[in-house]
Amino acid sequence: MNATIRSVGAYLPAERVTNDDLAARIDTSDEWIRSHTGIGARHIAGNDETTSEMAVKAALNALENGGVSPDEIDMVIVATSTPDYTGFPSTASIVQDRIGATSCGAFDLGAACTGFVYAMEAGRGLIAGGSFRNVLVIGAEKMSAMLNWEDRSTCVLFGDGAGAVLLTPADDNAGVLSSRLLSDGSGDDALIIRAGGVKMPLRGCSEVSKEDMYIAMDGRRVYNFAVQANTELFKTLLADADIEIDQVKYIVPHQANVKIIKAAAKRARIPLEKFYINIEEYANTSAASIPIALNDLWSRKELNKGDIIMIVGFGAGLTYGGQLIRL
Ligand code: ACO
Repeated sequence: MNATIRSVGAYLPAERVTNDDLAARIDTSDEWIRSHTGIGARHIAGNDETTSEMAVKAALNALENGGVSPDEIDMVIVATSTPDYTGFPSTASIVQDRIGATSCGAFDLGAACTGFVYAMEAGRGLIAGGSFRNVLVIGAEKMSAMLNWEDRSTCVLFGDGAGAVLLTPADDNAGVLSSRLLSDGSGDDALIIRAGGVKMPLRGCSEVSKEDMYIAMDGRRVYNFAVQANTELFKTLLADADIEIDQVKYIVPHQANVKIIKAAAKRARIPLEKFYINIEEYANTSAASIPIALNDLWSRKELNKGDIIMIVGFGAGLTYGGQLIRL
């Protein structure tokens, strides 16, 4: 049994912070941010707004769009690197309860910005196994809580938000046509939050600096990895499914930097028009970026049953992965 996307939903926090807003606070400019990343703005969650609250709003939106009630959901998977709690309970369990899914499992999945792609494949596998029918796959992030707002090299890059996809059994020849999930843990320190885990606990550790508590990134290294990973994924996903790029309606990539997308597109000789890019409005929302982009396309009725789309992600780990899906 294959699985495909029945509906999509998203939630973006109301507060919109432009590059000029940031330039009023730190040493940066709209020109630098746009020319280096393609980012124009980002949405930032309220101080008290949690990842689970954003995930709940995106999930309810997806359920409403799919005409499915919460008690029909069999599993909630939340891909996030910014869970409500660092240990337990899982953010997914909180979401499962708050949406009113009463006969349902729930778990979090951590693969950084690739998390949503990993979660889609996990959801597909659950449905393929035959014991689960309706799986909510959510990407939700409060990146603003993990940023050092004095570090201009990282804080301008990210935003908050959530997107949700309802996966259901596919009929006809719809469903996942090919998928790849990969990891290169030798790049573990290229994108890292050093403190807060058991290696450098926040409690009782006098050596924890402010820098250790927030996202640290070797931007150039991540950039090079991302271009290579995306290029490889475009080729292998198409080859595995014996599909030509002309048959693909949209490639929906993780939205980290428009320059990464352009460089990978050029290397793979894929026209830029094939890519859906919304980074200008939302910046990098990590695991939420692909489902938010899918929701944009769905809301504009740009995707129809039978269309083939490709999702590709990359992120900390370093991880990368993608799926080719017939809707
Ligand atoms: N405003 C103004 N100047 C800045 C800013 C800023 N916000 N940030 C850095 N600079 C300066 C630097 O200080 C440096 O100045 P210097 O030459 O005087 O030292 C100059 O700009 C160039 O800095 P670089 O880091 O070399 O800039 P680069 O062109 O490499 O772009 C960027 C940096 C955008 C981060 C790029 O490396 C990139 O996109 N990397 C990948 C990032 C990414 O995708 N991260 C997310 C991964 S997904 C996940 O899992 C979270």
